[in-house]
Amino acid sequence: MEITNLESLTKRAIDDRRYLHQYPELSGQEFETSKFIRKRLMELNIDILSFGPPSVVALIKGSKGLKTIALRADIDALPIIEEGEKPYISKKTGIAHMCGHDGHTAILLAIAEWLSKNEVEANVVLIFQSAEEITPSGADLLIKQGVLEGIDAIFGIHLWQGLEKGKIGLTHGPMMASIDDFEIDIKGFGGHGSMPHETIDPIYIASNLIQAFQSIISRNINPIEAGVITVGNVQAGTTYNIIPDSARLIGTIRALTPQTVDIIQTKMVKLTEGICQAFGAKGKVRFIVGTPPLINDPNESRFVENIVCQEFGQEVFELVNPVMGGEDFSYYLQKKPGAFIFVGMGGEKSQYPHHHPKFDLDEDVFPDAIKLFIELVNHY
Ligand code: NI
Repeated sequence: MEITNLESLTKRAIDDRRYLHQYPELSGQEFETSKFIRKRLMELNIDILSFGPPSVVALIKGSKGLKTIALRADIDALPIIEEGEKPYISKKTGIAHMCGHDGHTAILLAIAEWLSKNEVEANVVLIFQSAEEITPSGADLLIKQGVLEGIDAIFGIHLWQGLEKGKIGLTHGPMMASIDDFEIDIKGFGGHGSMPHETIDPIYIASNLIQAFQSIISRNINPIEAGVITVGNVQAGTTYNIIPDSARLIGTIRALTPQTVDIIQTKMVKLTEGICQAFGAKGKVRFIVGTPPLINDPNESRFVENIVCQEFGQEVFELVNPVMGGEDFSYYLQKKPGAFIFVGMGGEKSQYPHHHPKFDLDEDVFPDAIKLFIELVNHY
């Protein structure tokens, strides 16, 4: 469909984005961002529901109101010192919008403005969600507060540097990985470095565990499934000639399905307990459960594909490969049908990856992102 004021919506969105970019806030602390969003929604006479702050949830009633569709933007920034020369560089040292959530917020505000002036059949709930980047997740919290009650489907976008500018893409199933962390404590028996036979060396045992864990990826999970086990931190010992009493391994697990997460965790416990016992030590694994895998509902993702092909052109749609990064939009998709969509912006204006100190959005893709949300609402 023709969106008559797409140009002015885009201009406003770019201004909003640049403002938000200068005043980023960390996850769970987005109170000024929240005030900014509320003020704009109130100016547009849009009903704000009683969730948050810092999250903000608004409802626009449809002309028929038989269905309710939710659109979500995340609003938090990251603890990164921004580098580069942008005129709108972060004014807060050590905090910056290096994932592009400033863009998501501004684009959803543009949708709010459009919805306040145009009639659609379905009810639309706009979710400006706090704390995407951390555990506990802002999505999980909003769901526990009842944000999904009465919602028929939910959609979210990420402006995505990993997808070429001009493309819009998604998967028809698993799209982003789960995030779970682990801590493993190995209790051995310390002693003199020259007399290993009188000790139970937890460092040697830890090295066995690190090796053995990779066998889960290569020998236990189906080769066509994806999984990652990364030991990111090894803590043990103090000096040259002491075999320490204990050792600790800390790391992260990523997978694209709950089944794979389960296999990895079960095997890690078995290997830890078995190997430690074989060496006469004691091993204990603790999992810190994070975000579940993000799995698009195939019906809703086909609905998105059809809209992209119809309204933007077949060449714009891209069936993307899943990525092993996480995203807490997954919590909504555990409860309701919906889809998460990448709006491609990789190219000259967006060269650095998400979370890099020089990351930047390509604002040229804002009109497509705005149009995409409007078409989703219109066709739903
Ligand atoms: Ni992000």
